[in-house]
Amino acid sequence: MHLPNLKEAQKRTNKEVKHETIKPLKSPKFQGQKFFLRTYGCQMNVHDSENIKAIVSSLGFDETTTLEESDLVILNTCAIRENAHDKVFGYLGRIKHLKETKPNLIVAITGCMSQLESVTNLIKTKYPFVNIVIGTHNLHLLGNFILEAQKEQTIEVCSTEGDVYEGLEYNRDSKYSAWVNIMYGCDKFCTYCIVPYTRGKQRSRYMQDILEEVNNLVASGYLEITLLGQNVNAYGKDLAEGYDFADLLEKVAQTNIPRLRFVTSHPWDFTDKMLNVIAKYPNIMPYIHLPIQSGSSKILKLMGRRYTKEEYLELFNKIKKTIPNVCITTDIIVGFPNETEEDFQDTLDIVNTCQFDGAFTFIYSPREGTPASLIKDEIPLEVKEERLKKLNELVNFYSLKSNQKFLNKKVKVLITDVSEKDATKVCGYTEEFKLVNVEAPKSDIGKIIDVEITDAKSFSLDGKKTIFIKNS
Ligand code: 5AD
Ligand code: SF4
Repeated sequence: MHLPNLKEAQKRTNKEVKHETIKPLKSPKFQGQKFFLRTYGCQMNVHDSENIKAIVSSLGFDETTTLEESDLVILNTCAIRENAHDKVFGYLGRIKHLKETKPNLIVAITGCMSQLESVTNLIKTKYPFVNIVIGTHNLHLLGNFILEAQKEQTIEVCSTEGDVYEGLEYNRDSKYSAWVNIMYGCDKFCTYCIVPYTRGKQRSRYMQDILEEVNNLVASGYLEITLLGQNVNAYGKDLAEGYDFADLLEKVAQTNIPRLRFVTSHPWDFTDKMLNVIAKYPNIMPYIHLPIQSGSSKILKLMGRRYTKEEYLELFNKIKKTIPNVCITTDIIVGFPNETEEDFQDTLDIVNTCQFDGAFTFIYSPREGTPASLIKDEIPLEVKEERLKKLNELVNFYSLKSNQKFLNKKVKVLITDVSEKDATKVCGYTEEFKLVNVEAPKSDIGKIIDVEITDAKSFSLDGKKTIFIKNS
């Protein structure tokens, strides 16, 4: 048993990162049995879940979307805010009932919550029916733990800085759009954020390994790739190879993948070289997610974000100027400890100035072990909720305004699915990452088609496929 340790997880040493190629485990042991997987949190977790699916499928499990039907339940958890944490424990209550009628059910917990001492302590004492708790750094061993699952609980979480594993397999959710990890972990240590503790030290994959994965995806017909990292701009800084994110982006663009995206960009490491590459290649999509977190330079300093409001604005304007028609979205936290009305007004002001194409907004949630959680906070929750409401109204106003710019325009949409809103329609994203519900046949799924936008809402667009009638 290896228990997590937040103090250890915070350390950054000179330990050399191992790049190791693993051989995925194969066994028919669970043939005919079913697994149920629930994923919480960010794209990194969604992509890890694609790895989990490949791991358990190679043990013989088939997927079910009905919890009661399953022989193996996996909760891939998120620790970024308290509400994600509460949802997982709520769900564990449901699983406890199921385990009473199905004693051989295997229950596994993966993801960021596994890395927290408070969580593993609670699981040890109050949730003994959980068989496996495995951390984010050793997910590739999940198959071994499932094969050996016993009545006694196995907790295997390491809090050292982590390594890089190649040869991972993925059962990808989409046949058209794929995630590709370019790096793991984060060294930024924003004072509110638990990620550097749960995901470990920043460690980049070698460029040749990433390109090999991308080339395989292109060869299998993928039309879109999103490069994934907590802070993609810092790619390569931890390697001694002499290349950076701009170099990687250029090489990936040259594979001729029709659409290339990347998330997430921290304003700190955004270089002109990167901007020039984005502007140069038409297959790099004109969309950037650039979290601001707050419009108050005082709060930004307390958050450890390493930029002021003015520096963010300067970068924002440069991006707008260099990349024509770019859409920029952001993340904003309200109610950071002792955020004053004036600080909050600074946030509203910057939203008015930048007129973001979209924003994810959150109430600050103290995370145990982070520096911000030690600050005594005098602002009542009701005030924070009121600020969030106000901010959301403003943010939604600008996302509607941004969407309205597309009215009656022709856009290119990569159709990936049947529309969730209306089963007679299909849906997909524009180059600028706008969701569109489209009147088009289902046979267009997996194609990039021309669409005329007929209606704009705050969170999506409606459109119809444009049909070209050739003049004879
Ligand atoms: N409380 C609220 N929001 C947070 N985020 C990260 N940590 C916290 C926290 N402790 C938000 C940030 C980040 C996004 C992924 O989640 O805005 O960009
Ligand atoms: Fe968290 Fe900051 Fe790293 Fe993003 S850059 S994962 S907010 S510490």
